[in-house]
Amino acid sequence: MKAEFDLVLRDAIVMTPNGREAIDIGIRGERIAGLGSLAEESSEKTLRLPGLTVLPGVIDSHVHFREPGFIHKEDIETGTQAAVLGGVTTVLEMPNTSPPTTSAGDLQDKLARAHGRAYTDHAFFVGATVDNIEELFKLEQLRGCAGVKVFMGSSTGSLLVEDDATLERVLMATQRRVVVHAEHELRLKARKRKAESMGHPRAHPEWRDWETALTATKRLLAIASKTGRCVHVLHVSTAEELEVLSRHRDLATVEVTPQHLTLRAPECYEKHGTFAQMNPPLRDGKHGDALWKAVREGVVDVIGSDHAPHTIDEKKRPYPSSPSGIPGVQTLVPLMLDHVNAGRLTLERFVDLTSAGPARVFGISGKGRIAVGYDADLTIVDMNKKQRIEQNWLASRCGWSPFEGKIVQGWPRVTIVRGRVVMRDNQIHVPIGRSARFCGTL
Ligand code: DOR
Ligand code: ZN
Repeated sequence: MKAEFDLVLRDAIVMTPNGREAIDIGIRGERIAGLGSLAEESSEKTLRLPGLTVLPGVIDSHVHFREPGFIHKEDIETGTQAAVLGGVTTVLEMPNTSPPTTSAGDLQDKLARAHGRAYTDHAFFVGATVDNIEELFKLEQLRGCAGVKVFMGSSTGSLLVEDDATLERVLMATQRRVVVHAEHELRLKARKRKAESMGHPRAHPEWRDWETALTATKRLLAIASKTGRCVHVLHVSTAEELEVLSRHRDLATVEVTPQHLTLRAPECYEKHGTFAQMNPPLRDGKHGDALWKAVREGVVDVIGSDHAPHTIDEKKRPYPSSPSGIPGVQTLVPLMLDHVNAGRLTLERFVDLTSAGPARVFGISGKGRIAVGYDADLTIVDMNKKQRIEQNWLASRCGWSPFEGKIVQGWPRVTIVRGRVVMRDNQIHVPIGRSARFCGTL
């Protein structure tokens, strides 16, 4: 007779919606089929995990994998390898590739490229432009579409929606979640001279200052209010924005990145130079403290890595011709678990920010919690393991991380995607990733 489960995980602490539980997890096919004390004879296979903690699969809802167009920096294969080594089970990828993802054909092309090469489940954002607004409604319904991305300020690539009227049309034309890079383009243009004259990345938070971010976020909230459409504000980086956002929780959800929580200006620019350059910039302790307060108070919904790889040669160009962006999909879990161990957030809050939060904000079906019937996406970690982040562990094609050499406590040991072990102790297995499903689409 066939056993009830294909695989049972035993001996671990499991983070379920009930809290921390010493229970077994029974997996049948791709789903969680039983939780509790499961009989020995109920399973084909057993994975014993003493001393380890099982978390719902981590969803990184903000990665740039560069394919097509910039595969010398990264591609879907290397990007998702980095993801599973770092304990990430699902990624949502951004549209500023070449060509940018702005049509059904572009989306189809990304899905085809991911087929048989992606180690994680995945979906792709479609970029809003002045030219594709009429089509957005159809695009966002397509399989594999994560939602719509808007750049209010220029960053890597050519996608840009500068003016309020166009932004309003984008919000009116869509139903899914619109995610926004909120920097005010006019102020960016007006202040670029600062960066050029200083010629050092320590100018970055002065060029792209707090007011650049705040102005855009306020404009965005005004349009969200006018249209009654909720928005998701990416990589929030300033105390001022968080103050405003905390008064508009009915209109906006909030993402912060591990690097904005971990690195501080000016030290990061002195130590890492352009390798700490990203948009919006890493800022000083006042803003960092505000981000942590927002994490504690529940103002932050999601932690996304904004994994944005560029090659070492590209990063070595003189500032400001050096490109902005920092890789991070592989270091999100270790860095944030280290913060958990340091007492800056609880493990429960980590799960809320990296699984439940993204599932809720983007309406991802069947993911984001350890519950019967949900996909068996699991991030299994050793909360006690102290480990140095080494260059030879990094799978990103860019080959560097600003966190190289950092010793963290808390490390991903096993990554399971829909019941299949895709990473165990730094060994990666088959690329079985497929497109994530979303409520309200096919
Ligand atoms: O620093 C950044 N890099 N910010 C962005 O908005 C884009 C990203 C990239 O794609 O390089
Ligand atoms: Zn980004």
